[in-house]
Amino acid sequence: MSIKSLQQQLNNKQPREILKSIYSSVNDLAISFSGAEDVVLIDMACKLGLKPNVFTLDTGRLHPETYQFIEAVMQHYQIKISVLSPDQNALQKLTSEKGLYSFYQDGHKECCGIRKVEPLKRHLANLSGWITGQRRDQSKATRDSLAIVEIDSTFTGKDSELLKFNPLCHWTSDQVWAYIRALDVPFNSLHNKGFISIGCEPCTRPTLPHQDPREGRWWWEEADSKECGLHSSLTKPT
Ligand code: ADX
Ligand code: SF4
Repeated sequence: MSIKSLQQQLNNKQPREILKSIYSSVNDLAISFSGAEDVVLIDMACKLGLKPNVFTLDTGRLHPETYQFIEAVMQHYQIKISVLSPDQNALQKLTSEKGLYSFYQDGHKECCGIRKVEPLKRHLANLSGWITGQRRDQSKATRDSLAIVEIDSTFTGKDSELLKFNPLCHWTSDQVWAYIRALDVPFNSLHNKGFISIGCEPCTRPTLPHQDPREGRWWWEEADSKECGLHSSLTKPT
């Protein structure tokens, strides 16, 4: 199916219907789960009986609460989550040469490149499409024009072209939390401690109600560089 017809098919649909549609038209899909409120995608997919493949990028630097949550999600939904590790040699080189906190000095791109982007690239090479929990309201600076579906311009899949789906694109944080509370969906306990956007422990801190959620990520860097390379391309609306 062409990207245009996929866009037409998915436009104006709610996340649940988007997931249903995606799974009926694309094989070899996986949900990319960060261990935060993107758990709603897993909840919806499981309730639709889709038996989703789910993976998470274990950077080695996540909060203990996030590891506990990922395990709790596996138990709760009775699913396996592929926990992806960075390349050992690249990681060894980075930490031996630059220590454990080099990102505070020379930016997060190098560490994210090794701990997140390269393992993701390896994993996506076996897929036709991946599903993320990105939303427009997560960042005015980088996600304001996010689309429900796009051709990934950063990574390639098994058929070279890789589809990237963002079913929660148009949902607000309030909608996500209303879903979580109403359906008793498990959530990361860091959310009870003021964390909104959750990433690695050294690079994430809680935010105040008036702040852009991404101000708690890589706070020592500029707002428009707060993407780790997973979602580096700015996308056009469908
Ligand atoms: S990030 O690029 O800054 O880390 P963010 O935390 O907003 O992204 O999460 C957006 C989406 O990216 C998540 O819903 C998820 O699909 C994907 N993602 C982010 N971090 C991870 C991770 N560690 N493992 C798997 N997917 C992730
Ligand atoms: Fe490294 Fe921080 Fe990126 Fe995690 S978020 S991979 S610790 S730079």
